[in-house]
Amino acid sequence: MDSKLRLIQQSFNTPYSELVREALDELPDNFTITDPSISGHPIVFASRGFLKMSGYSREEVIGQNGKIFQGPKTNPRTVMEIREAIREERGVEVNLLNYRKDGAPFWMLFHMRPVFGKEDGRVIHFVAVQVPISTKQRRNGGVSLSEDGSGLNEIVFGSCRREVDSDSLLELRRVLSLDSGSKVLDIEETCKAGEFEERRAATAFNNILSVLTHCSELTGRLVCGKRCSVPGPGYVSSSLNISLGRIKQSFVLIDPHLPDMPIVYASDAFLRLTGYDRHEVLGHNFRVLNGVDTDTSTLHQIKESIQTEQACTVRILSYRKDKSSFWNRLHLSPVRNASGKL
Ligand SMILES: Cc1cc2nc3c(=O)[nH]c(=O)nc-3n(C[C@H](O)[C@H](O)[C@H](O)COP(=O)(O)O)c2cc1C
Repeated sequence: MDSKLRLIQQSFNTPYSELVREALDELPDNFTITDPSISGHPIVFASRGFLKMSGYSREEVIGQNGKIFQGPKTNPRTVMEIREAIREERGVEVNLLNYRKDGAPFWMLFHMRPVFGKEDGRVIHFVAVQVPISTKQRRNGGVSLSEDGSGLNEIVFGSCRREVDSDSLLELRRVLSLDSGSKVLDIEETCKAGEFEERRAATAFNNILSVLTHCSELTGRLVCGKRCSVPGPGYVSSSLNISLGRIKQSFVLIDPHLPDMPIVYASDAFLRLTGYDRHEVLGHNFRVLNGVDTDTSTLHQIKESIQTEQACTVRILSYRKDKSSFWNRLHLSPVRNASGKL
């Protein structure tokens, strides 16, 4: 299996019981769930409603970042508000213009909130509920969209239906949606959600959260919608996770200030190389990679370089989870903050 897909599966299999996908699939709302600890902050679950609304298949959406639904008229300021909320690990509710797979734009109320681990206060996932905003409310020349955006076809292209085949219809719709001068659907003006959409988003989020909470009770790795405990030292925030995720090399971060100097970040490439799941290495000392033939003098060299806060490069025999060995060219380097502190 593709290694990213494996990480995505683990993202759900570790905190929740196997019932989770089925239970989420029964919810009628449009929503997606992302994991900030995986490189690229991908979507790890997309509801049936969301797939219908966006026109994408599940395979096309899983593993992608939510920004694939943005387009030329998506307001960059709104996107910045979402980015800030993710960085600060808090909820956000904004009116957002997105594009379906066929290029048709649609307005929605984007309601996003983090889900935390109850024990350690870490962000486990982000959940976003996308409630389409009916343009009927706006009375802008009679354009109206049905809940899933499909009404666009009827209303916008009703009159030209007999003249064009369906492929050209798609193309025409795409071109029109990209054409800023188009009078058909006024996407310049922000479409605002009303109380109905707001209530619907909040209810949907609560329903999703109760499924996640219930499924986490079955694994004993409880999640909750509010941060119940402050993450301890060594916590790698969502924004740092997302930034580190852009680095494609195999590497880990260890925190020298914590007892036994545990790994606090492991890159996707490191997990691929060693065969471990993320939760199997986070919180553990790097010695999980050592085995019977690992050279003790090289281990001393590493220890010394940590104690003296100096960089070092060694060649060391390491072991994967399946106990197969590999030669590891290990480069160790201290990371300091602006004031020079390790
Ligand atoms: C759970 C979740 C779902 C998201 N879904 C969407 C979406 O449907 N449409 C969209 O335009 N952005 C969505 N986003 C936002 C983008 O993924 C991204 O965070 C945003 O564009 C800001 O990041 P950037 O600066 O890298 O673009 C979602 C984010 C999260 C956390």
